[in-house]
Amino acid sequence: MRLCGLLIGISLIGLCASVAEGVIGANWGTMAIHPLPPKIVVQLLQDNGISKVKLFDADEDTMRALAGSNLEVMVAIPNNMLATMNDYDAAKNWVDKNVSKYNFDGGVNVKYVAVGNEPFLAAYNGSFVNTTFPALQNIQNALNDAGLGDTVKATVPLNADVYNSPPTKAVPSAGTFRSDISELMTEMVHFFNKSNAPFTVNIYPFLSLYANKDFPFDYAFFEGTATPIVDNGIKYTNVFDANFDTLVSSLTAAGVPDLPIIIGEVGWPTDGDINANAQNAERFYNGLLPRLARKQGTPLRPNVDIDVYLFGLIDEDAKSIDPGNFERHWGIFRYDGQPKFPMDLSGMVPASKSLVPAKNVNYLPEKWCVLNPDAKDGDPKKLADNVNYACTFSDCTALGYGSSCNGLVADANASYAFNMYFQAQGQKEASCFFQGLGMVTDRNQSTDQCSFLIQIDSSASFRDSLRPFSLVFLFIAAVSVLLFF
Ligand SMILES: *[C@@H]1O[C@H](CO)[C@@H](O)[C@H](O)[C@H]1NC(C)=O
Ligand SMILES: *[C@@H]1O[C@H](CO)[C@@H](O)[C@H](O)[C@H]1NC(C)=O
Ligand SMILES: *[C@@H]1O[C@H](CO)[C@@H](O)[C@H](O)[C@H]1NC(C)=O
Ligand SMILES: *[C@@H]1O[C@H](CO)[C@@H](O)[C@H](O)[C@H]1NC(C)=O
Ligand SMILES: *[C@@H]1O[C@H](CO)[C@@H](O)[C@H](O)[C@H]1NC(C)=O
Ligand SMILES: *[C@@H]1O[C@H](CO)[C@@H](O)[C@H](O)[C@H]1NC(C)=O
Repeated sequence: MRLCGLLIGISLIGLCASVAEGVIGANWGTMAIHPLPPKIVVQLLQDNGISKVKLFDADEDTMRALAGSNLEVMVAIPNNMLATMNDYDAAKNWVDKNVSKYNFDGGVNVKYVAVGNEPFLAAYNGSFVNTTFPALQNIQNALNDAGLGDTVKATVPLNADVYNSPPTKAVPSAGTFRSDISELMTEMVHFFNKSNAPFTVNIYPFLSLYANKDFPFDYAFFEGTATPIVDNGIKYTNVFDANFDTLVSSLTAAGVPDLPIIIGEVGWPTDGDINANAQNAERFYNGLLPRLARKQGTPLRPNVDIDVYLFGLIDEDAKSIDPGNFERHWGIFRYDGQPKFPMDLSGMVPASKSLVPAKNVNYLPEKWCVLNPDAKDGDPKKLADNVNYACTFSDCTALGYGSSCNGLVADANASYAFNMYFQAQGQKEASCFFQGLGMVTDRNQSTDQCSFLIQIDSSASFRDSLRPFSLVFLFIAAVSVLLFF
């Protein structure tokens, strides 16, 4: 801010704008088959002026890459560790090893610890309702005891399904916390208030649209709608504002009307659903980013500078698709750190500049695995089984209805599946066998709509990051190969 004023003073307004873009944050998820090396991702964040990053763990390679970067970091405790953190010594140990350890000059600028990730999601059936609040208290107390409590705050990223307004009076001002967790939420927000920590909420207009076929399309975006919601004279023309203000009302009802709110996740996916595409994502961000840049706030909290972490930075092709096929396509960058559509993070419309792609990315050779047209032996079951196998161990979500590769003819469809598996397997020759149906080619198979990708070569970092998940994955893959062939 001060720097900005100073720069205007010496009339370098152009530079000032590029300082302002530093307010945007991004979520850095790593559930990819070939994740980009952490050093490349940190450079990507810096090149794009993304000054805040939210993680889903506190992975050592990631933390090492962030050291010395000056990026503001939210580290996280996954849901499956919440029960463990109900023991104060375990919480203290976690803070020692994952926060205090990096607290030195040239270390990592940790600002928040996310305790769990959407632990009260209705879909979890209450699995984490008893363990989240004690874990939160232990972690904040451990931060305090480590002398970090003034600068590092524990928070809990929550899905917007923790609050609602009753169907009979569906307006933001009637918002309250969900009835099954309302006492717990009330205790928790008073704890946040006491420790000067923010409320962290994830807001997804795309999911509102996805979940309800009667949802007014325009209401998911920011250009106005023919059917606004009128609430005490306030006209809500987009679901983002209405959702945020429902939270403000819920906080007011719980007795902490001024608790600061940060947006832990907001974004739009680009594939895997009829409404998930680059045009809609661009439209969404073109509405959202300028509002953030001019600190517009919402009707109940006008003129505030909302801290926002976009979801997400890079596509994650190993995420669970339980929520939907779009789940692997939330990145503003593709799997390889290439931008997907024009986007100006400083909030200028039309865009005054574009995203900077990732640098020094190593790709595998330009080879694709396809269905061998001469090998088709008229056994449709054999082909279907092989396609199915390929898609079980790679990402075929782009083939689905309304997705980028949905228009392929049957043979190309099979080739797409074969190639995804072949690339996921690091182009190992045997991974293009498919009972004799596959063959390797150096002819690019991509169409205008559908990208037949070449994976990045992350062999070195892949070995480094072998985690229980990957081990289980490899084990299942190995067993399935044995069973199948
Ligand atoms: C740091 O946190 C991660 C999970 O976020 C956990 O797996 C790891 O065990 C922690 N490190 C230590 C030393 O506790
Ligand atoms: C929650 O309950 C539903 C319905 O009973 C079930 O289908 C689902 O698997 C459960 N989810 C979890 C995470 O336990
Ligand atoms: C949480 O605690 C309540 C009350 O003690 C109990 O009924 C419930 O089963 C517990 N839930 C879980 C997931 O352990
Ligand atoms: C919230 O915290 C502020 C100080 O940060 C305090 O003045 C206020 O009384 C607190 N509100 C409640 C309801 O405890
Ligand atoms: C393409 O493959 C997907 C995934 O196996 C399958 O669901 C779909 O029916 C196939 N489409 C065609 C045209 O073969
Ligand atoms: C393959 O073709 C597509 C579409 O023309 C292009 O975007 C992509 O860069 C090409 N891939 C390689 C590895 O050349």
